[in-house]
This record gives sequence, C-alpha cells and structure tokens, in this order.
Amino acid sequence: MVDDSMNEQITIAVVGSGYVGLVAAVCFAEIGHRVICVDNDESKIAMLRDGKVPIYEEYLPELLDRHCNALIEFTTDLHAATQRAQAIFVAVGTPQSQTGSADLSYVDAVASQIARSITEYKIIVEKSTVPVYTNEWISRVIERNGVPRELFDVASNPEFLREGTAVVDFLHADRIVIGVDTDRAGNLLRAIYEPLTSGKYYQSADAVPGVRTTAEPPPLLQTSTKAAELIKHASNAFLAMKISFINVVSNICEAVGADVEQVSKGIGSDERIGPKFLKAGIGYGGSCFPKDVAAFRYVAEQLGIEFGLLREVENINAEQKRRFFQKVRSALWTFRGKKLGVLGLAFKGGTDDIRESPAIDLIGQFVKEGCVLSVYDPAAMERTKQVLPPSGNLTYAKDAYEAASDADALLILTDWQEFAELDLDRLHYTLRYPIVIDGRNLFDATTMIQRGFTYLSVGRPGAVQTRDAAISRKLP
Ligand code: UDX
Repeated sequence: MVDDSMNEQITIAVVGSGYVGLVAAVCFAEIGHRVICVDNDESKIAMLRDGKVPIYEEYLPELLDRHCNALIEFTTDLHAATQRAQAIFVAVGTPQSQTGSADLSYVDAVASQIARSITEYKIIVEKSTVPVYTNEWISRVIERNGVPRELFDVASNPEFLREGTAVVDFLHADRIVIGVDTDRAGNLLRAIYEPLTSGKYYQSADAVPGVRTTAEPPPLLQTSTKAAELIKHASNAFLAMKISFINVVSNICEAVGADVEQVSKGIGSDERIGPKFLKAGIGYGGSCFPKDVAAFRYVAEQLGIEFGLLREVENINAEQKRRFFQKVRSALWTFRGKKLGVLGLAFKGGTDDIRESPAIDLIGQFVKEGCVLSVYDPAAMERTKQVLPPSGNLTYAKDAYEAASDADALLILTDWQEFAELDLDRLHYTLRYPIVIDGRNLFDATTMIQRGFTYLSVGRPGAVQTRDAAISRKLP
C-alpha cells in the first residue's frame, strides 16, 4: 500500500463491480486513491460492504479487507459518486450481441446518467473493452445531455488483466495504456498511475509481490483514444490467434507423431514470437477472447475491411473442441452408458468462471450422447450447477478421485495445478479402466505410460499401455 503523503490522492469513481471494475477499484485504493465503487446491483453492493468478494481472485479478499470502508466505499448512487469524483472509470459489461458486435447499451446508459450529474470538470474513462469510436459516442451522449465540452474529457484506459492473476496483472502490468486527446486528461490519468509508474508502490513492505520493482516500474504508453481502443481489441485478437495457430500445429504434430510441446518451445524461443500463449489444448474460452475476437471482426467488417483471419481463428477454436470429442469417442468406441470422470469445469485454472468454457460445452455433448459423468473442479462447481443441474447422468464429486471412481476414462478439461499433482497410483486403482484423455497436456506422456495408463493428450504421440501392464497395475 502506498503512503498517502507520497502522492497526489485522487477521488475516483468506478462504475461496474465485475471482474475489471472491482479489481481496478481495489487496486486504485491500494495505490493510495480514494475510490467509490458503484453498481446498480444492490445485493452485490451489500456483500462488498460486508467485505465479501463475489469472485474467486487471488489477493482480492486481502486488499478489500485492507481498504474497505477506508479508501474504498461501495454504493448504488451513481449521481453522488459522479459529483464527488474527479475521474469516473466505466467498467460495465459489453456483452456480445447477435451480430457478434459488442452491445454498448450499458455504456450508453451509464454515460447519460453521468452526464446529468456533471457540474464541474470530470474525466470519463472507458475501462470496459469497447470498439473503436466508443469514445466519440460517449462524448456525443454527454454533450447531448447538455454538458459543455470544456467540462469533460473522455479517455480510454484498457485493462489487460487475466482472471486468476488479475490483481498482480494490474499492479505489475506489462504496460499501462492511456488513450487521451487533451493534455488535461493525460495529466490526470498519469497522476492516477504515478504510484506505479514512479515505482513508489513497490517500495512499500506490504506491496503485492510481482515482477515490477522500483527500479523497473511499468511503462506508461500515451496514445490517442482511438489507438488505445484498438490496442485492447487487437491484443486479445492476437493472443487468441496465437492459441489457434498452435492448436492447428498440434494437429499436424499428432498426424506426424511429433510433440507439440517441443515445437512450441522451439517457436517460442524466437524472441520475435515469444513463448507465451503457445500452449495447445481444447481451445480458448472465457469472457474475453471469444467475445473480443467476434467484436473486432465486426468492427473491421463495418469499416469495409476484410479480416477473414479472425473468422479462421474462431473456426479453429471450435474445431479443437470437436477433435477432442472425437478423440474420446475413438478411445471409448461407443458412448451410451459409459462412465466418464471429468476434471475441470472453469475455462482455465485459477478461476471459478465458466463463461464460454470449452469444458461446459464438451460436458453438455457427452451427456447428450448418453454418458454418465462425475465431474469435479476446485472452484467452479457451484457456478456450473446453475447451468448444468445435477441429474442421473451428471453428478458433482467431492474431489478428483471421487470423479475418477470406477470411470471408463478420465478427461482433463481445465489446467488446474492441483490436477497435475494427483497421486497417479491412486488414480490408477480408482479408475475402472486406466484411460486418461488430457485436453490440457498436464502430464508427461512417458511417465503416464510407465505408470500403466493409456494416455491421450493434444498434439503429442498417444501413449497406449500394453494389456499385461494394465492388468498387473490393477492388482493390489
Ligand atoms: C484474457 C487476456 O489474457 C487478458 O489480457 C484480457 O484482459 C482478458 O482476456 P483471461 O480471459 O482471463 O484473459 O484468460 P487467459 O489467461 O488469457 O486465457 C484465455 C483462454 O485461453 C483460456 O481458456 C485458456 O485456457 C486459453 N489458453 C491460454 C490456451 O488454450 N493456451 C494458451 O497458451 C493460453
């Protein structure tokens, strides 16, 4: 936490207490600002006031505890928050509409409400992921509500945080992007981030640890508002493209008997490419990549620009799930009545979020085929029960071993570290047939076969045990 006397304290309103809004609000308090977090969901605000965190996110409970009712407060009163704040960050949802475009109706509604409360200079900052030109639209909405141009600026400050590591991503950012069209807006946003960019935050003994230090603080990149809007969409689209690229390469690896992990390492060692986001699997999911790739494609289309590459990124992602489904079919031959243990429901490890999770999609397909599933996830069970209620064909296990118990095969659909650390001998005895089909490449194939499993993964040569080995491993 930053010593208040060391930097300029700014009063900030954050509208929307979802992933981005809540993390930003808590982190702004952590770097010494006074924060008013606004949401129209009364029950959520009541929960936050009690210091309870509605999402599973490392460091968030500790930081909320540190700042709740001190530097950060929670309210449903947007009018009062706007009047008090110098900067208003808009972090409301931008869901995907039927055309693939981002639905900006929440942003529009919030902009009109903010406009009605402006009586002195404010900066309105888009933090939600929005298409290029949203900034201009927000300005128009505010002006239409009678606010003179000199009383406000609209800026763009995209957020690059990942779920599961959101707090660390915010406080130890690769870069901070501020898109502004006036010096006044630029100065205010730079002052807000000054505790990070000057490195002061990292001097504090109770600072959240991470890669950034006082000697190497995060760089701040000042751009136009349009460039900042594009940076966010283009970054997510590029990362999704990297994943789809390696997923196709993994299919080629499977066809020729090569190991995609070796290929990824070889490609990623080229500094121009970099090693991250080259992990093959069952495709990307989550609340951002699927939505943002579609929205960016739509933006291009509207501008008359052909961006078929993004369509292909989406196609490959869908195909990756189909291929995994086929892999399970080819291992089991028939589906009806087969018992599957399933590890992983969240769209990735370290989160309880199941939005666009490939695991949820696949589970739905296996249930439809008549399989009997016992599923387990360390964090996402409750959320999943809301969309896939327990039934005769789908039960929720108390741990990984219970999910595997007496199963014809075990499927791994989410990359939780906990799964990589399972006791393989116990797993082997627990399964009816020692077949593991790993959609996240959590295990070493050679180890798995030595331990008596038939092990299928993504983009790596299949490891099939001999019949005798299977039988001897089964004997206690
Ligand atoms: C993403 C962006 O990383 C973040 O910058 C942005 O602000 C929000 O969207 P997030 O959705 O939290 O963050 O998840 P991320 O860690 O990026 O993973 C997205 C999906 O890609 C997951 O389903 C993950 O399993 C998958 N993935 C990721 C791969 O399949 N392979 C990889 O190499 C990396």
